[in-house]
Amino acid sequence: MVSREEIHSLCHKYYEENFAAGKKFEPEKTFLPANGKVLDVDDLSMLIDASLDMWLTAGRFHEQFEKEFAKFWGLRHSLMVNSGSSANLVAFSALTSPFLKDRKLKPGDEFITPAACFPTTINPALQYGLTPVFVDVDLKIHNVTPEQIEEAITPKTKLVMIAHTLGNPYDAKKISEICKEKGIWFVEDCCDALGATIHEKHVGTFGDLATCSFYPAHHITTGEGGAVMTNNPALKKFAESFRDWGRDCYCAPAQENTCQKRYSWKIGELPLGYDHKYIYSHIGYNLKATDWQAALGLSQLKKVSGFIEKRRYNFNYLKTKLIELGAEEYFDFPTALEGANPSWFGFLLTLKNANMNRSSLLQYLNDKKIGTRLLFGGNITKQPGYLEINKRVIGDLKNTNLIMEKSFYVGIWPGLNEEMLNYIASNLMHVKNL
Ligand SMILES: Cc1ncc(COP(=O)(O)O)c(C=O)c1O
Repeated sequence: MVSREEIHSLCHKYYEENFAAGKKFEPEKTFLPANGKVLDVDDLSMLIDASLDMWLTAGRFHEQFEKEFAKFWGLRHSLMVNSGSSANLVAFSALTSPFLKDRKLKPGDEFITPAACFPTTINPALQYGLTPVFVDVDLKIHNVTPEQIEEAITPKTKLVMIAHTLGNPYDAKKISEICKEKGIWFVEDCCDALGATIHEKHVGTFGDLATCSFYPAHHITTGEGGAVMTNNPALKKFAESFRDWGRDCYCAPAQENTCQKRYSWKIGELPLGYDHKYIYSHIGYNLKATDWQAALGLSQLKKVSGFIEKRRYNFNYLKTKLIELGAEEYFDFPTALEGANPSWFGFLLTLKNANMNRSSLLQYLNDKKIGTRLLFGGNITKQPGYLEINKRVIGDLKNTNLIMEKSFYVGIWPGLNEEMLNYIASNLMHVKNL
């Protein structure tokens, strides 16, 4: 009989022989992406463990991941899904549940969000027929201020849904107070911000629901993957239903009759005793993750504090280097709010001089094998897919347009070391030649 131990020991050997040494950094040859994943032999072992179970769908790893991930946030519930975009869809959908009666979101309601955003933070609400109200951002944090939110609120406002973009927290405490006072739902998209805190609390713990992404660019990875978090048991139930086909039944996969009355329900206009497994109280989806994703999530979660610290270290290291080189003459750097401890996703730079051409700098960096990214959609209202949408816009979006034209970010993810960051910093100084 081959034991799991033997397979794992072979897996360790395979990892040692194929991956352990890593690759030597060679300037101008080794590509330095703006984002990346960090995997080790424990991650490989967990993936193999999940394979040896041959369970495939959400199983024991999934259950454990949901528990441990909720614990990390200090929240009661976390639901694993197959991407951060799905997490946003599930979180938003939960707020459309008919069980919420007059508090449920309806087509025609308004939702407030910054125009400098990631598309799938806002797409679920757009597709459901809510009207987006786009606000500008503050240039220090590249995100909204509570004052901008207050200015945009009307009696039609029913939702505020904003990402903690690039891991730098906005004032979620103040915004949650405004939302609570006015009876507005508040969803924090924390896809970029795992581990970021403000006023000593994790971002994501201020709103009614929070979301996270585990795509390889993010703080931990499960390949594709994401999660929805909440402290509210009713919202958890609705979110779970939307994730799991819209069903009313809450049995875990391969379990039956958790409610003890599987054949005695009378719901909707269905006949008495209609199998609870096939009763749909929401118009849902299947957005579940697999047990491989959850197994990888567990081993990644063990290393999350180290990942976050390394991101913070790399951000500060790169900032110090850039200041030493005189980069502040050419670029604006991001700043954290007082009381915030970002969990940086990238290092966003904004060209100070309006005549400087960003594309030629990005092309230069690309030729030097330095990866860059933009702040997502820039001004989303200018994106081809969004030109025709019904919307309200507050002000002239001047700062958003500046970000669209002059900002970009470089990597600070844990796979980058000081030598690589020195190389990135010195090449950024090509800005002098623009
Ligand atoms: C702020 C934000 N929200 C949502 C997402 C979507 O996550 P995913 O790629 O896992 O669908 C991303 C992806 O990078 C993001 O940055």
